[in-house]
Amino acid sequence: MSIPVTKAIFPVAGLGTRFLPATKANPKEMLPIVDKPLIQYAVEEAISAGITELVFVTSSSKRAIEDHFDTNFELEHCLSSQGKSELLQMVQNIVPKGVDCIYVRQPQALGLGHAVLCARQVIGRVPFAVLLADDLIDAQTPCLKQMLEIYHEANASVVAVQEIPREDVQKYGVIAVDKGWHGQGQVQAIVEKPKPNEAPSNYGVVGRYILTAETFDHLQQIPPGRGGEIQLTDAIARLLKHQKVMALQFKGTRHDCGSKLGYLQATISLGLKHPELGAEFKKYLHGLLSDNIL
Ligand code: G1P
Repeated sequence: MSIPVTKAIFPVAGLGTRFLPATKANPKEMLPIVDKPLIQYAVEEAISAGITELVFVTSSSKRAIEDHFDTNFELEHCLSSQGKSELLQMVQNIVPKGVDCIYVRQPQALGLGHAVLCARQVIGRVPFAVLLADDLIDAQTPCLKQMLEIYHEANASVVAVQEIPREDVQKYGVIAVDKGWHGQGQVQAIVEKPKPNEAPSNYGVVGRYILTAETFDHLQQIPPGRGGEIQLTDAIARLLKHQKVMALQFKGTRHDCGSKLGYLQATISLGLKHPELGAEFKKYLHGLLSDNIL
């Protein structure tokens, strides 16, 4: 029987240099897509998959994230006295009852693997999820929920993957799959940011992982890898020598909001789907088309 996964790590300590100057004083995870910060999309995905303990691995410049998930008495009082009950309910339910937020500091930017390792004491010896807020996944069934199905079926760690163009493999952890691959299967090997001619496939890992506690043991032992950083991918590469690790090509669209282009694409895509703005935004885009601006 697999252990239920109720804890998720959100590594949010990165400096966000790709989005400067927007991220000089604001965490990149607080950049909004339409009207919600990126981190909230990831948190909502986790909660809808049954996660009840949100562990944020943060750094000194990320206070806005803690504030976002905390109570804001002044705002709530103001909304309440103005009779704005819908808005009040919305801000009060960003973190629903029964869900806890825990903050752990990553004292130095030593890589994703190091960030995950910083949460070790809080997680303990149970399986856990990792969600990277940069990867916004728009899916009918939340990506993490799709992964949990595989986790329970196989009683094994799971990474989410998508097909990527060959020339882009050097931006991803890339897996080797077996012959029986049918959109899911056992990971045979995994390598962090390989050169296109050295990549074992064109399946790149996106920022969703379900990992067993043994991952921490490997993270503690591995030396710095690609870019001189402690890489989560390297720990998974060791893990799969001892335990089964599955990969799932999830159903849905992943927006790479760590890049400016991906961020703009996410804004357009989610703007078009927005219940209040979608129709008018579509009209605006059509207008651009007919004016030959698009
Ligand atoms: C990280 C991981 C990489 C993964 C990617 C997904 O890289 O190290 O294995 O494929 O996230 O977004 P980063 O984008 O932080 O360089």
